[in-house]
Amino acid sequence: MRVCVLRESRAGERRVALVPAEVAALAKVGIQVAVESGAGEEASFLDDAFREAGASVCESAAQALEGSDVVVKINPPSIGANGSADEVAALPEGIVLISFVSPVANLELVRRLADARVTTLAMDQVPRITRAQKMDALSSQATVAGYRASLLAATHLGKFLPMFMTAAGTIPPGKVLILGAGVAGLQAIATARRLGAVVEAFDIRPAVKEQVESLGAKFLEAELDESAEDEGGYARALSEEKHQQELELIGGRLPDMDAVITTANIPGARAPVLITSAMVATMRPGSVIIDLAGESGGNCELSEHGTVVVHDGVIIAAPDNLPSELPTHASQMYARNVTSFLHDIVEDGELKLDFDDEVVSGSCVTHDGEVVHARALERMSN
Ligand code: NAI
Repeated sequence: MRVCVLRESRAGERRVALVPAEVAALAKVGIQVAVESGAGEEASFLDDAFREAGASVCESAAQALEGSDVVVKINPPSIGANGSADEVAALPEGIVLISFVSPVANLELVRRLADARVTTLAMDQVPRITRAQKMDALSSQATVAGYRASLLAATHLGKFLPMFMTAAGTIPPGKVLILGAGVAGLQAIATARRLGAVVEAFDIRPAVKEQVESLGAKFLEAELDESAEDEGGYARALSEEKHQQELELIGGRLPDMDAVITTANIPGARAPVLITSAMVATMRPGSVIIDLAGESGGNCELSEHGTVVVHDGVIIAAPDNLPSELPTHASQMYARNVTSFLHDIVEDGELKLDFDDEVVSGSCVTHDGEVVHARALERMSN
């Protein structure tokens, strides 16, 4: 069986879907890898390293795709919109695509993949069950994003985060507030603490209090009831009354903060607004907001996805694709997720897609010329 790795075409993308160490591991179970030349360059994995690991390096995407059973990518293939290449048109009929897809947000892509008779397995749809934890690329990339978010806050801030006692005076530690303590939030807390900041955090799921405190941060308590969590342990949107209560709690802390990192997310919904314009106006000039939820609408009312804006001296950044800013380790972690997935769908060196396996059925978006992802189908028929 042959797997191919293509250069990512998304603007600014520096990650690659497989790294040499995983190529070598795949070779041991009879999976050959073909890499498009230069695919790993921006993540510091050069063609020679791929060759040494046993991959064949191809001059073009077409050569890498030819004869491959599976193509692995990070970003969904482009569909030729807004002057981008049409990567879907280049996919051979019957190939299995493994990449992030976000099917509900990308209906046209999903339709094109079905029409091209591509079997699409979406890394973002892998069910969050214990067995599939090693395939959870959303979590691995959110870990990178949380770490980078704290570094970004430190960079935008005109102040130190750690305390300093010097002959030129004593500088108190910076104060950082993290909103949302899921994967990215917890990593942002850990990183801000390592940088010496005094950290507070809030999440509507009281279950995370212990994790927040174990990282050395203070958990802000709110009188929200348990219904903030669904049966699967995920957050659900708050009632208007509880939301107002939350805004009051956060609003009370903002004037004292140097940096706020927001990561609040409700699966499948618009990100909750946790910082309104009026709340930004209460913050000190020079303070920083890093809004990780820009892509799903933003946790701060004034965020503009993919850019930095300044309001009354408050710097508000809503970065796009933070994992790409740490391309070596982000690629290494993604590659491990993909390799685990490949091990699940390959038997004796042959591709075996078992649709009774909940990882395969849960992540499958298109197969046999049909769209099989329930929510994408529902959205298409509306
Ligand atoms: P997650 O689902 O693990 O964590 C989200 C947390 O937000 C949960 O703990 C949840 O309880 C909490 N939350 C939900 N509503 C809340 C509210 N009203 N107040 C306080 N907390 C609330 O998600 P993960 O993986 O940590 O990702 C967080 C966000 O970062 C997502 O929006 C994701 O799309 C984004 N992200 C952005 C990246 C970038 O480059 N900009 C890269 C990776 C992730």
